[in-house]
Amino acid sequence: MPFTYHELRNLWLDFFKSKGHTEIPSASVLPENDPTVLFTTAGMQPLIPYLMGQKHPAGTRLTDIQKCVRTNDIADVGDASHLTFFQMMGNWSLGDYFKKEMVAWSFEFLTQKLGFKKEQLAVTCFAGDADAPRDDETAGYWKEQGLRDDQIFFCGKEDNWWGPAGQTGPCGPDTEMFIDNGQPKCGPDCKPGCHCGKYTEIWNDVFMQYNKTADGKYELLAQKNVDTGMGLERTLCFLNGIQDVYSTEMFSDTIKQLESLSGKKYDDDLKAFRKIADHLRASVFILGDDRGLTPSNTDQGYILRRLIRIAIRNMKKLGIEASELPNLAKTVIDRYAPDYPELERNKNFILEELTKEEKLFSRTLTTGLKEMDKVMANLKDKTIDGQTAFHLYDTYGFPLEFTQEIATENGLTVDVDGFNKCFEAHQALSRAGSEQKFKCGLSDHSVETTNLHSATHLLHAALRKVLGDEVAQKGSNITPERLRFDFSFGRKMTPEEIKQVEDLVNEAINKKMPITCEEMPLDKAIESGATALFKDRYDAELVKVYTMGDFSKEVCGGPHAANTGDLGHFKIKKEESSSAGVRRIKAILEK
Ligand code: SER
Repeated sequence: MPFTYHELRNLWLDFFKSKGHTEIPSASVLPENDPTVLFTTAGMQPLIPYLMGQKHPAGTRLTDIQKCVRTNDIADVGDASHLTFFQMMGNWSLGDYFKKEMVAWSFEFLTQKLGFKKEQLAVTCFAGDADAPRDDETAGYWKEQGLRDDQIFFCGKEDNWWGPAGQTGPCGPDTEMFIDNGQPKCGPDCKPGCHCGKYTEIWNDVFMQYNKTADGKYELLAQKNVDTGMGLERTLCFLNGIQDVYSTEMFSDTIKQLESLSGKKYDDDLKAFRKIADHLRASVFILGDDRGLTPSNTDQGYILRRLIRIAIRNMKKLGIEASELPNLAKTVIDRYAPDYPELERNKNFILEELTKEEKLFSRTLTTGLKEMDKVMANLKDKTIDGQTAFHLYDTYGFPLEFTQEIATENGLTVDVDGFNKCFEAHQALSRAGSEQKFKCGLSDHSVETTNLHSATHLLHAALRKVLGDEVAQKGSNITPERLRFDFSFGRKMTPEEIKQVEDLVNEAINKKMPITCEEMPLDKAIESGATALFKDRYDAELVKVYTMGDFSKEVCGGPHAANTGDLGHFKIKKEESSSAGVRRIKAILEK
């Protein structure tokens, strides 16, 4: 039963559309206004406000295929399955249908669309604990579909509870679906979740009925939601009986191109081929996002830099010139642009940034590799100490994983803790470090964050008043302590301009203007003078427009303060270059 990439995508979207769902475009892979998360890691993340009860403009039944980046396992890339970028097929009920319908549709999709037999299925349900009851209801619906008792398993929170994505937020019991491959390798107690090969997880339906609060309690949400997710790449492999995700059509063009450029075969150096293919694809999607993120030494920009540099090093290993990077990227863009038009729209930006990063890195790569050889030749034991690893980073631009990769190939290890200490001491990464930030997940919508979000709108409007219409938002990141705002502008701002912008924002705050929200069609919003950043990403039928007196009017999802008077005193701490033609402001609100 071979399926192509597009067949699977369409099968998913058409199925849920036939069940009354509206298809929404994939949200950005860079979360907007989420202080503590670097990338979108699941389809539900951009939908959190709506799972919490806010009205979604596209209705209560949604489906999409979301671009996701997960970098916790970056070092595992090189095996047959790990990917940093992947696509998650999802559907949601926002206070609409619940368990009964979802189980019935899951069964229908698996058996009638993907062609699995009822006997091949195994499912798990939540066993219950002090926070939430045993989910006999869901098990009952599976039985209604004809599953036998021995196809239904009950597990605790560690297996059958999903979320919250961060420390707080929507979550709930789930029912996971597995395909029983028939041959237990481990023994008679094998059950879903075991990795011996008997069971392959295929889908997860989460019944998001709870909100985990900061003090660890599970409160009932105002509405009962469904959040499901099926990994596209993994499912495509499984359906086609392919063990190696890089052997699917999703990577075939890149692998072929690498073979022809290197004169080597994929099997000659699986790891190198796979790392290039994965990291290149992830880099293209991150750079191709409308937010205009560029490689840097902090946060998402640093992850991007690592991906690109590790790809370059592996190209070198295969004997491919680093300058081929943009050509390889073109192949990825061509493959995916039909489904993700932003890649075509941002093609020049992607290629230029890859070229710049490649040039920048090529300057230090050769000398750095020589230095690395020297370091390895002079080691007393089998560990490269943290300071040396940091020196390689600081002087030659070798990210830690990069040094680790070379070390591993030579049977050595790197003192990661030591490296991190040096790294933090030099404040090369913002605060606790991006990985930690990544792990701690989604933001609360705290008062501080909300106020800074409103201040961001005032700042945007003030910048346009002082610097002109050339200014457009390129990115925004807010932590409870500060806002960070990237915008298009060709030169450094003068101290007078910075002061003028600050004064304008503070005047707007002192006027104590109410912040109001109206819902209207997108064209009406634009007609009324509202700034709309991501026109193609909104639902044209209904957008929210936030107005702050006569000062600012922007299409935005919220949340915002009720009155500009709530914000406190606005202060710009830093104005710097973010990338060519893009400036970055960091600002705070003082009490
Ligand atoms: N949020 C769940 C997951 O990521 C279902 O979409 O698995």
